[in-house]
Amino acid sequence: MELVSTRVLVTGGARGMGRHFTKRLREAGSAVAFCDIDPGAVAATSAELDVPGIVADVSREEDVSRMFDEATAALGGPLNGLIANAGITRDGLLLKRDRQSGEVRVLSKERWDAVLAVNLTGPFLCMREFAQRAVEAEVGPAVAVHMSSISRAGNVGQSNYSAAKAGLVADTRVWARELARYDVRVGAIAPGFVDTPMVADVPEAVLGKILQQVPLRRLIPPDSIWKAVRFVFECDDFTGRVVEVDGGLVL
Ligand code: CAA
Repeated sequence: MELVSTRVLVTGGARGMGRHFTKRLREAGSAVAFCDIDPGAVAATSAELDVPGIVADVSREEDVSRMFDEATAALGGPLNGLIANAGITRDGLLLKRDRQSGEVRVLSKERWDAVLAVNLTGPFLCMREFAQRAVEAEVGPAVAVHMSSISRAGNVGQSNYSAAKAGLVADTRVWARELARYDVRVGAIAPGFVDTPMVADVPEAVLGKILQQVPLRRLIPPDSIWKAVRFVFECDDFTGRVVEVDGGLVL
């Protein structure tokens, strides 16, 4: 699929990788809109990139439906591209014993639920809405790209995030197989540690340890992930698989 003939919604587009994808899509001639949860950030990015921005929470069914209504209206027709990029972290070890007091702290269910809601339920709701509308409108070929992560292999401190990102790869396969008959392709990208605000939140000492394990010894620039997204859009025989862009890191 040529980017110039796409109408695309990017979730989590106000900052980080999503903002970069939105910018690149616009430069490539796509009709693009994005959503994010923070109204101030949506307004700022929308003005800076001159792209329609929608305030929506991808984990809420009613928000997702409204978001597709608004994107369809803003872009002048039904969408044939989705980048389900919105994601959050609520990192924490499953448990940790305090050396002095002996007290054991555990990962809260709130942290588990928050990450599963945004990072797994969110892509499910967006994929379902996107596919339903594409099939009903008979848009022709359509492509959805999901953001998994190297953490899907099981990253220390990320019980919730690792589970969501692994589940997303499984469902990428499910959706690709189920939707191929409707000319909908579904791919996933598994980035390593990318130079974004999310990774900037990792404690410096821990990040230093992680980077020592990366063969290329550096954070990945968002543009390298964009190149993988572009590949999924443009390669008409790619579906149901994961592109790994992680500097060679093995967790
Ligand atoms: N890889 C390897 N070791 C890690 C680790 C990781 N990701 N995270 C923590 N550890 C190690 C720490 O270095 C520490 O080791 P030592 O006991 O040998 O010193 C041990 O685990 C305990 O960690 P802390 O002392 O930091 O424990 P804490 O309770 O204060 O904090 C934590 C725990 C919140 C998980 C914190 O360590 C942390 O933020 N770790 C980073 C987790 C991470 O990698 N997140 C990725 C975010 S970016 C992202 O998710 C994008 C993506 O797709 C990759």
